[in-house]
Amino acid sequence: MAPLAEEQMLKLMVDTHEARFDGRIWEAFDDVVVPELPGEPSMADLGCGPGLFLFDIHQRLPEATLYGFDTSAVMLDVAGNLSWSALKPHLSRCDVSKGIPLPDGGVHFISMNFFLHQFDYPLPILAEALRALKPGGWLWIYDWARRPLEEYLRFWDVDPGLPEMGDPALAYRLFACHNRFTRQDWHYVFSQAGLETAREVERARGQHLLMIVRRAGAHEPAGGQDKAG
Ligand SMILES: C[S@@+](CC[C@H](N)C(=O)[O-])C[C@H]1O[C@@H](n2cnc3c(N)ncnc32)[C@H](O)[C@@H]1O
Repeated sequence: MAPLAEEQMLKLMVDTHEARFDGRIWEAFDDVVVPELPGEPSMADLGCGPGLFLFDIHQRLPEATLYGFDTSAVMLDVAGNLSWSALKPHLSRCDVSKGIPLPDGGVHFISMNFFLHQFDYPLPILAEALRALKPGGWLWIYDWARRPLEEYLRFWDVDPGLPEMGDPALAYRLFACHNRFTRQDWHYVFSQAGLETAREVERARGQHLLMIVRRAGAHEPAGGQDKAG
């Protein structure tokens, strides 16, 4: 059984969004991702939850065509009701482990925020993301990296959380979900998927790790000929 009910997960994602996506995360986005995007990029977020990351992108890149995929109707409902000013995102309820509803090479950028750790076997999802990504496109993987139990439990004292986080049983159950792949494990998984890392950013004493990766040897930007400027 999942440790958190859908409504609890929603509250946690919304309450922690600002802390998780702090200035260093957006610096990496601006340094690594933005310079290689065309003027009107297409970008997809797998397990988009309440859509706040897509909304942040929408504010930075209003010309971007955005796609959000999630299994949860509750999350997608929140995402659909954000104050989108220009292009609304395409939000679809789907299980991306059964396939991403995008054509081959359909988008310039694919993100997975606090998503990939949920899968026992992440390689098929990475392969499917590569299929849907233009050659040279970036994969943005921001997730938990395993830390010792004592440090993990301290995390819930300092970061915003749910009132229920006072319950040690819940924190232990979440530990089992979040503390799976170490930083070295993620590197190994990416090497198995034929990916190389361009930038890593740690926050929360290394418990949160952003990894911006792409197909090993792919140096031509996904924007290619249609790159802005
Ligand atoms: C921990 S939340 C992260 C939400 C959002 N990315 C964020 O960082 O705020 C994980 C999300 O993945 C979604 N999810 C889980 N398995 C999925 C699957 N197989 N396909 C699509 N979405 C999935 C959940 O519904 C949930 O919204």
